[in-house]
Order: sequence, then structure tokens, then C-alpha cells
Amino acid sequence: MAYETLILGAGAAGMMCATRSGPGTLVIDHAKAPGEKIRISGGGRCNFTNMYASPENYLSQNPHFCKSAMARYTQWDFIEMVDRHDIAWHEKTLGQLFCDGSAKQIVAMLVEELKAAGADLWLQTSILSVARTADGFQVEVEREGKRQQLTARNLVIATGGKSIPKMGATGIAYDLARQFDLPLTDTRPALVPFTFSDDRFKPLAGVALPARLSNARTSFDEALLFTHRGLSGPSVLQLSSYWREGEQINANLIPQTPLFDLLRSQRQEAGRKDLTTELARHLPGRLVDFLAPELGLKGRLADQSDAALRDLCDRLENWSLTPSGSEGYRTAEVTLGGIDTDALSSKTMEAKTVPGLYAIGEAVDVTGWLGGYNFQWAWASGVAAGSAI
Ligand code: FDA
Repeated sequence: MAYETLILGAGAAGMMCATRSGPGTLVIDHAKAPGEKIRISGGGRCNFTNMYASPENYLSQNPHFCKSAMARYTQWDFIEMVDRHDIAWHEKTLGQLFCDGSAKQIVAMLVEELKAAGADLWLQTSILSVARTADGFQVEVEREGKRQQLTARNLVIATGGKSIPKMGATGIAYDLARQFDLPLTDTRPALVPFTFSDDRFKPLAGVALPARLSNARTSFDEALLFTHRGLSGPSVLQLSSYWREGEQINANLIPQTPLFDLLRSQRQEAGRKDLTTELARHLPGRLVDFLAPELGLKGRLADQSDAALRDLCDRLENWSLTPSGSEGYRTAEVTLGGIDTDALSSKTMEAKTVPGLYAIGEAVDVTGWLGGYNFQWAWASGVAAGSAI
């Protein structure tokens, strides 16, 4: 069968691309349903974009690459589509926009839009081989037990990254890139919890607090969550994209609390109070119990000198930790790295050396922060390729 455009992957980027490439487009996916990651994202409510999305929120070997696509399809363009489909939404925090109802509404919207544009969608279809022909591409697929040869002038790689293999992630994007001699940057799990070699944080599992997590290059002020195996929560997931094995991280456990002043004034007003009792007003009680031996927290407030209180606050602001690793692709929200942007046009996402071949979404070396930024890249890069085709 002959098509104008074959899009490999019915995820966020592939479906969005099909809404623009229109008639003669076939979207192929091996999953049972389209947009499975959209469906589970944002706790089932899909954090579909971010009001403040801008190129500074993305990691890439070429930080300028995402600018063109993002300027031509912004968060406001996506919000306009969401509004047109009467999908109610709200801002949760930090510009993160979520559906009031269900992430399934976003999937349904994209399927409706791609069908309205005249594109077809084949699910449960395996990709057996991809080859270049004189005037395009040939893709052999297996569907309903039958092998079929499909041809197309354009081929779009929209099969995402390696994160969460259980949900259908395969890394086929990188195999195809190698086949067509497109360079790859190193890939690694990102937006992923940190693990530690021992189970030191087990007693704290479930404790959450606002924190500032940093390394030598950057810092994030968001919630920190202790888990049985280590650290999670938004601040940790954000920092994980900037972390490298063996590197020390720093946790400021009192980023917004003027604790030194508060402890000094309490020492004056209620000097008989235990130090740990007072600290538990500002930090989770279980964390205070956990830190007590390490920080030597004992005695009444009246027993603490200014120097001791200052030292305590310094240590709470500079808690140094060295994760032994991360939870890996099993739970990572995204894959950092991928198809090298040097190989692609930033306007169209077309491969510079292979006319008609495009790469979009997470498969490309553009990775967003936590908070709706990755979907915004999927939408913008999908529109860039779909409009150029
Ligand atoms: P995506 O992974 O969406 O789609 C790729 C498609 O290709 C899939 O449908 C897959 O089945 C298919 N495929 C793969 N290999 C194939 C093969 N060999 N043959 C056929 N088909 C194949 N981002 C955000 O902005 N806000 C959020 O709230 C969240 N939340 C979130 C939660 C969780 C748990 C995860 C894992 C991720 C997120 N993300 C997110 C990240 C976001 O899901 C991700 O960046 C986008 O889905 C990437 O879109 P793509 O279309 O590039 O890949």
C-alpha cells in the first residue's frame, strides 16, 4: 500500500504530527491503544503543557535547537486546541496545566483531530523492517497476523525514548537513526528518583517537605520525598536530569524558613522547650528524629548557643548526599539524549542527509524539565514536521 507519509509511533508527537500532515498519512503503533503515556501522565490528569514553557526549560547538546519549533507552536496554541474540545483544565502549580477530568480526553482529542485531518491509525502493528527506496521509504509491518509492505515518500520517527519499557518503549528510534547514519548523543534515564546503596532512608519512607536540591550546576526548589530506596519528589526528579554518577548533591531542608531567627526568638520566649520539639514545628517530626543523632540534636532551647543554632541551620541548609544511582528506565519519565539535533533541521525536523526522513518528540536530543515541558516539545516538534510535510 502506498502512502504519502508514514508516522512510526502513535504517542504525543506522532499523533500531533498526523493532525498536520493530513490525508495520505498512516500512523503505526505496536500498542493496543494510542497515547498510552499521555493516558497515565500527571496521575491520570495529564500535565499537558506549562504556561511558562520556554527554551530555557530544555536540555540538549544544542540548547538553541528547540527555539524555532517552540516559537511557532506555543503552549497557547495547544491550550486553544484543548479549549476548542471543551476540555476543562486548571493550573496546579508553577504554570503546570492539568485536565480537570481525565488524561483520556487529551488522547481522544488527538485521535479526533488526526482523523479529521484525514490520517489513518493502525494499532497492534509491528514494524519488521524499514528501507530506503528511490523515491521514499518501504516499511514491512505485521498486522492481524499478516505481513504487509507499505511505501511512503516521508517517514517520521516518533517512537519516543527508552523510558518505561513495560509501556511499550523500545529504543527503535535509535536503531533507525543508526541505520540511516544519523548521529546519536548518549542516552540516560532522566526525571528519575535517586537510589542509595543502603536502606538508610527506609524509616523516612513517605515523608515529604519543600526543599532546594542542587548540584554544582543548578538547583530546584520543589518538594522532596523520601522513599524506601532513596529520594524522589519533583526537586529530585528535576535534578536527576543534571546529575552524573558519583556526584554529590546538596539538600537545603529549610529553603524558605528563617530558622535561625525563629529558634533564637523561641529560645527567648520558651527556653524550656526541647530543641527537637521546636524543630518539629518547622520540619516533619520523623525527619527530626532521623537527623537527631547525626546532628547531635539534644537539650532545651535555652541550652543552645547562637553558634550552635547557626551551625545547626547551616547543616540543615547543606545536607550533602551522594546517590549511588537512579531507578533507571524502569521508572524514568523521559530519556535524556537521543538523535543528535545536528542531524536535523530545527525548522522541519527533517534529517539533513536523508530527504523525507523526520524525527520528533522524545526520540530527539531535547529533554524538558518536569511540569508539562516534555509534552509541549512533543506537540511543537510534531507540528513542525507535520506542517513541513
Ligand atoms: P511516546 O513515548 O509518547 O510515544 C511513542 C510511541 O511509539 C508509543 O505509543 C509506543 O507504543 C510506540 N512505539 C515505541 N516503539 C515502537 C515499535 N518498535 N513499534 C511500534 N511502535 C512503537 N510529560 C509531560 O509533559 N507531562 C506529564 O505529565 C508527563 N507525565 C509522565 C508520566 C510518566 C509515567 C511518563 C513515563 C512520562 C511522562 N511525561 C510527561 C513524559 C511524556 O510522556 C513524554 O515526553 C512524551 O510522551 C514523549 O512523546 P513521544 O510521542 O515522543 O513518545
